[in-house]
Amino acid sequence: MQLMSSRAGGAALLLLLLHCCHIASSTHGHKSDSALAVMETTGGGDEEEEVTVEEDEGDLETFRPLEELKRDMAQLDLMVETDVQIMRRLLESYNSSESTTEQKLSLLMELEYLVHQVDNAQTLCWMGGLQLLLEGLNSSDFRLQQSCAFVLGSAVSSNPLVQVKAVESGALQTLLTMLATAQPRPVTKKVLFAVASLLRNFPYAQRHFLSHGGLQVLSELFRADRGGVLRTRIVTMLYDMISEKELISQTGLDPGLDAAHEERLRQYSAVSLQGELREKGWCGLVPQLLESTEHDYREKALRALLAMAPVCLDQYRSDGSLLGSLLSLREQYLEMVQSEMIIGEENGYFGEIVELINALQVKIK
Ligand SMILES: *[C@@H]1O[C@H](CO)[C@@H](O)[C@H](O)[C@H]1NC(C)=O
Ligand SMILES: *[C@@H]1O[C@H](CO)[C@@H](O)[C@H](O)[C@H]1NC(C)=O
Repeated sequence: MQLMSSRAGGAALLLLLLHCCHIASSTHGHKSDSALAVMETTGGGDEEEEVTVEEDEGDLETFRPLEELKRDMAQLDLMVETDVQIMRRLLESYNSSESTTEQKLSLLMELEYLVHQVDNAQTLCWMGGLQLLLEGLNSSDFRLQQSCAFVLGSAVSSNPLVQVKAVESGALQTLLTMLATAQPRPVTKKVLFAVASLLRNFPYAQRHFLSHGGLQVLSELFRADRGGVLRTRIVTMLYDMISEKELISQTGLDPGLDAAHEERLRQYSAVSLQGELREKGWCGLVPQLLESTEHDYREKALRALLAMAPVCLDQYRSDGSLLGSLLSLREQYLEMVQSEMIIGEENGYFGEIVELINALQVKIK
């Protein structure tokens, strides 16, 4: 069997290992010199370089001696271990004064790939990588800012420990400051991604976001964005936050609560998102996204409008342009549903949009 030592090959293998062998890289001790030698050849992450790992080409059910299996396991072990080594090498090279910006950018892309793994993102933290990323956000080169925001966002995604570390290191303030000041668009996009990842399922950060004027900052971005890409991302992020809180409160009605859940519930109740949304003008802003020509953007807007309905109904009712948009969009999508039916498709995407519009109209009546 040939293994690409490309990043994809390595990660696929690593995943496989973690699943089938329950090897956690952090539980391993020191390696021998030969282990380091293996690391040098397989851990480079250079594209195209191939490493041949010998394997029985025969029937998979063939009997394999225990010694051979043990040897294979030991090899796998080494390869898992190398991930920590790779992280160290990348961070050291990145931090080296001898690295050029181009090199740093490519090192960041390798890091970005690696930190999708929960363990690797935590390794990044204890190796001091968060600090490097935060400094990178301050860089005068916008490409470094963009890439650092990207790595940071990926590292905190679905990773509560890293989310906590990042907020403790002041990441949220830095990111919000960046959103509040003019940046090249690619930077803003990645910073927004990092903020969304930092806030997801993390009520503590959400409260800080609100108390540091996050909704105000986002509303200014929303107003300034003509194309609609940023608008959609912002609205999706707000929608996610609302529904996340609702979901938690709903399960809160369940009598089988445990202490951790109560604590989550308590934390979420401290996030006064809905009231803030109304105060900062979002009941009037989100309807503007319906003016987009993209179906996807409109769908996101409709979902957010429904989620915000409990606090926005009065404003929806007096928003002539929203009511008009709903009527004309409904007509337009009904027509499209008809043509979908003619070509034999039913309950398609357009039907879903019609249902969202219906639901919103029922609430507004
Ligand atoms: C980066 O380099 C500086 C000084 O050269 C050092 O103090 C710091 O610990 C290094 N950080 C990391 C994460 O390697
Ligand atoms: C980034 O810059 C701001 C303002 O100049 C400064 O307050 C902050 O400490 C810097 N952050 C890092 C990590 O260097």
